[in-house]
Amino acid sequence: LGQPVQPAASQIPAHIASLPDYEQQARQHIEASAWQHIQGGADQQHTLAHNRAAFDALRLLPQPLADLSAAHTRQTLLGQPLEHPILLAPVAYQTLAHPEGELASVRAATALQAGMVASTLSSHTLEAIAHEAQHTRSALQRRGPLWFQLYSQAERQHTLELVQRAENAGYEAIVWTVDASIKRSGFALPAGVQAANLRHIAPRPQASSIDGPPLFGTPLVQQAPRWDELRWLRAHTRLPLIVKGVLHPAQARQLVDAGVDALIISNHGGRVLDGVVSPLEVLPAIAQAVHVPLLLDSGVRWGTDVVKALALGASAVLVGRPQLHALACAGWLGVAHMLHLLRSELELAMAQLGCATLADIGPGILWKNS
Ligand code: FNR
Repeated sequence: LGQPVQPAASQIPAHIASLPDYEQQARQHIEASAWQHIQGGADQQHTLAHNRAAFDALRLLPQPLADLSAAHTRQTLLGQPLEHPILLAPVAYQTLAHPEGELASVRAATALQAGMVASTLSSHTLEAIAHEAQHTRSALQRRGPLWFQLYSQAERQHTLELVQRAENAGYEAIVWTVDASIKRSGFALPAGVQAANLRHIAPRPQASSIDGPPLFGTPLVQQAPRWDELRWLRAHTRLPLIVKGVLHPAQARQLVDAGVDALIISNHGGRVLDGVVSPLEVLPAIAQAVHVPLLLDSGVRWGTDVVKALALGASAVLVGRPQLHALACAGWLGVAHMLHLLRSELELAMAQLGCATLADIGPGILWKNS
């Protein structure tokens, strides 16, 4: 309290050399209650801390002398070319961090050829975000995949409208988030920040009041996504369908059997249920159980984290909070710089480990403590 919020800088702050640097700097650029909302994890925040600890617990085992003359980080994911395996995770209400919000993020993602997943709860409409992506693609002759993250709405008709709007606007995959419908949130959006996609839809009930009726039987639980909705959704979109928020290996198998094209192994950055496993811990078991592309988020902050996730079976990773930190510090330039830092760290780690391509990153780069 009392600290004035500084506007974003118009250039990249000179002293910033890593994603944690952006996090530290961002505090001065974000209003206190929004900062708490962005940074926080559920309850005691054990999972939030554990997400980082799981990365830190792994040790890398370098093998120098590799020929890196033709090294690259390219791959094809769901039939879409990807220059490097780093995407922007869906993050709601980005105008909390910067007036340009998602428009700045998608410009940065396109410029850095990173994938961007636009949230249902974006503060600019999905059409405006897609338009900005198109504009940047033609100006820079560069592109990255653009996917739409779907939250189920109370009425299926409204869910379907979102899917159809995303298809019409040129989004290239639907990311259906299944882990976050039933969660507490005490954060009230400031004036002027809203879910631009949902202006015409009645707001979902929030589980913010501890004085309210018992949870079971309330609309909140009744609206949570279910298996029958997955089958319905699969039948109603021609786009690749990705499910986000998967942690259970047997459920991963069931999802793939039900026609899902890829999975995002995630605990929502430790924001939903405290005490759950970290995505990195369960990744090997899920990679054994299914043979579709696996993406991972929750705690990725360094190039070495990307390498560790890929070594255990991920095809790509997503970053959540760091995009808000970078946005708040320096708008779209900040997000572009943040992506550049992470990618540079990844390439440095690959070179030092002796990996010329992503395919060379396997369990062999990890030291197994017995
Ligand atoms: C999120 N996340 C999220 N996920 C989603 O599917 N739809 C959404 O609208 C949001 N909104 C959102 C807002 C904020 C403020 C945060 C921090 C996160 C979760 C996000 O996609 C991702 O899973 C986590 O942020 C990943 O963890 P890290 O990178 O933040 O540690």
